[in-house]
Amino acid sequence: MDLKLLINKAIESKKFSYSPYSKFRVGSALLTEDNKIYTGCNVEISSYSLTICAERNAIFKAYSEGERKFKSIAISADTEDYISPCGACRQVITDLCGNIDVILINGKGQYKIFKSIELLPFAFSDKELNNRE
Ligand code: THU
Repeated sequence: MDLKLLINKAIESKKFSYSPYSKFRVGSALLTEDNKIYTGCNVEISSYSLTICAERNAIFKAYSEGERKFKSIAISADTEDYISPCGACRQVITDLCGNIDVILINGKGQYKIFKSIELLPFAFSDKELNNRE
């Protein structure tokens, strides 16, 4: 799988962003282990806290279609610096996708690659939950 293709899918997905309140468009593209791509954009709600981020949308779309194994996720915004995923999304990426590559893209299409655990060290996980009787 061409990294550029995944990056372009994330950039393209910004066009579907529904962000009338923040006017901050975000697009994401998630790559599965068998090279399928699920895209997502942020969708905002008049009751702001119900908004869903682009990367979480992509992940939940993939899960809803039965996908469970992933290689990487690309996230794009029209920012000067590389887009920085929010804390909630870092938890969701680590929890539902594992230690995958997270490709953060800036407004010029430049990118930087991190591992999920670099973005969320000492993450909470199901390890502890599974130890309970
Ligand atoms: N947002 C994302 O979709 N992903 C991020 O990584 C950062 C923030 C959205 C949420 C909201 O619609 C807008 O950007 C401003 O916070």
